Amino acid sequence: MSNNQADARPSVVSVQTPSLSYNVHVGHGLLDRAGELVRESAGGQMAAVIADSNVGPLYARRVLASLERAGYRTAYLEFSAGERNKRFSTLVPLLERLAAAGLSRNDVVVALGGGVTGDMAGLAAALYLRGIQVAQIPTSLLAMVDSSVGGKTAVDLKTGKNLAGAFLQPSVVIADVCCLNTLSPDLLADSCGEIIKHGVLADEELFDALAARPVTSMRPDSDELARIVARNVAIKRDVVNADEREQGLRQTLNLGHTLGHAIEAGSDYALGHGSSVAAGLCCVSRATERMGWTEAGTTGRIERVCEAHGLPTDTDLAHDTIVSFATHDKKRRGQTVNLVVPQRIGKVALRRIGMDELETIVRLGCGTR
Ligand code: GLY
Repeated sequence: MSNNQADARPSVVSVQTPSLSYNVHVGHGLLDRAGELVRESAGGQMAAVIADSNVGPLYARRVLASLERAGYRTAYLEFSAGERNKRFSTLVPLLERLAAAGLSRNDVVVALGGGVTGDMAGLAAALYLRGIQVAQIPTSLLAMVDSSVGGKTAVDLKTGKNLAGAFLQPSVVIADVCCLNTLSPDLLADSCGEIIKHGVLADEELFDALAARPVTSMRPDSDELARIVARNVAIKRDVVNADEREQGLRQTLNLGHTLGHAIEAGSDYALGHGSSVAAGLCCVSRATERMGWTEAGTTGRIERVCEAHGLPTDTDLAHDTIVSFATHDKKRRGQTVNLVVPQRIGKVALRRIGMDELETIVRLGCGTR
């Protein structure tokens, strides 16, 4: 990461997947430009904004006004906030309301909110009339750096998170870092798990910048945090451009997630997703360093950066519990899982491992700090 002070102009990161090319805009005050940015990328006559009951009251009015200035007829659909509402029984009424509002095939759904909203509004757009356009306006740091980019949409099933969904690339992503001002410090810190993951995955310079100056010490709407967001989007863009449908390289974005998802589920979702990924990342690195698959000293560096962001570096869950949740992960392939191994900071490898190796990794990496 450059130490130069960038000016406050928005960054534009271009994503080019086989199914769609689109821009991710990162900057300040972009909510008021949402209409023009949606208009130039998606067109159409009508825009339906979907938000949850936390984010809608904060930002929907501004986004609707901007869409109307750009010539859209608008509809506003709100649902009750919370991961527990990310399910078909919430999605179906949203689809009925899109139909009642009269959206046509050329129109656009605008997903305004965090990961739950982006996933569910994205799936509504993917299903409605067999697929209409979606614009993503992420308002949480986690959604800005991860879930709004790459076209994954989903709802949860009783059996697990994100088990029913579709790929639908957005027509545009609009990340207004001013929205981070209303994010709680706990949620901001939690999001840093995915940011640290991106550094370990692909960018030692980003990792070192996080070590020197934790995101949690930055002003939420600062230029330096906007640059971190844009850098993370570019890392994800590079992966998604190369492998839109997660046949190969995109699986590396699951670094820290095999154990992280198990830690998250084992805590009954009391531990946030980013915090669980941070713990999972430290645990897998600790194990694979002990097995000689990871450069010596890597785990200590990751642990220090996680600690500096107030994130956990280990888990006290029982090994049986972790193995059981890890083997129910949807990324499992038969009797094997594809594990993302941190080889050193900035470089990972995908390794197919059997259940016995997974058990060894849990034994060596979890509760052993
Ligand atoms: N969050 C992982 C992915 O988008 O593939």
